[in-house]
Amino acid sequence: MTAPRQPHRLSGQVAIITGASQGIGEAIAHHLARLGLHLVLCARNTQKLAQLADRLRQEAPDSKTLTLACDVRKHEQVQAVVEETRKAFGRIDVLINNAGVAPHTGLMQEISIEDIDRTIDTNLKGSIYFMKVAGKTAYPFWSIYDASKFGLHAVTEAVAEEQRTNNIKVIGIYPGAVDTSIWDDIHWDQEPKREGMLRADDVAESVAFILQQPPKVFIKEFEISPLQPTV
Ligand SMILES: NC(=O)c1ccc[n+]([C@@H]2O[C@H](COP(=O)([O-])OP(=O)(O)OC[C@H]3O[C@@H](n4cnc5c(N)ncnc54)[C@H](OP(=O)(O)O)[C@@H]3O)[C@@H](O)[C@H]2O)c1
Repeated sequence: MTAPRQPHRLSGQVAIITGASQGIGEAIAHHLARLGLHLVLCARNTQKLAQLADRLRQEAPDSKTLTLACDVRKHEQVQAVVEETRKAFGRIDVLINNAGVAPHTGLMQEISIEDIDRTIDTNLKGSIYFMKVAGKTAYPFWSIYDASKFGLHAVTEAVAEEQRTNNIKVIGIYPGAVDTSIWDDIHWDQEPKREGMLRADDVAESVAFILQQPPKVFIKEFEISPLQPTV
């Protein structure tokens, strides 16, 4: 006789995942749904979110999903996601601040103002907006992306210290190269070796591992990268 399946400790908790429409965010959604968390999936592409929600309902019927359109660069849209989440579920346990873009790579002086604004507004300010209510390695030709992620690293460290006494874990997860469509528009002399990159699922597994730690265990930072250099 098999023992009845015990619900997972995280079951019933509520996670907001930004940038859930594809790539790493989508992979994290699958893992957290399997652990029984309820999910608020946000991104700009609502069609992809709806398709993901359909798949999750089949895969993990105990996990409820809510999909919300949100451009993280718009503070009022971020606030609306938080309000809708509270209205629907009455709680927020986990925030996966994942939405991000990569600008065209190049020397700093070659990067357009549009790309600078888009990257800083999405990667850094968008995450700050969500915290308010990648990477630790600098790569040449990626100066603006690096700036957005180093800024986010600093904010993450500061808020982690502010919040740990409130029993809130603020965790920096820093993946190296992951084979997602973020690389599709990136072209330079030496093409990145995509087959050697991590899979979005590798990162999602790490996120699930981190979330499954006992309440008093605080993994402050987590770096995961391909064994061999890919870029
Ligand atoms: N792939 C890598 O090698 C790698 C390595 C380290 C860190 N990262 C970081 O991991 C995160 C996810 O990247 P990925 O590789 O999964 O890229 P991806 O496949 O291009 O996915 C990016 C996600 O971000 C969302 N997004 C972009 N701009 C947004 C905006 N203004 N508002 C709301 N959502 C927005 C996109 O959704 P919509 O377009 O539908 O809005 C999409 O769901 C990013 O922060 C990236 O910098 C990636």
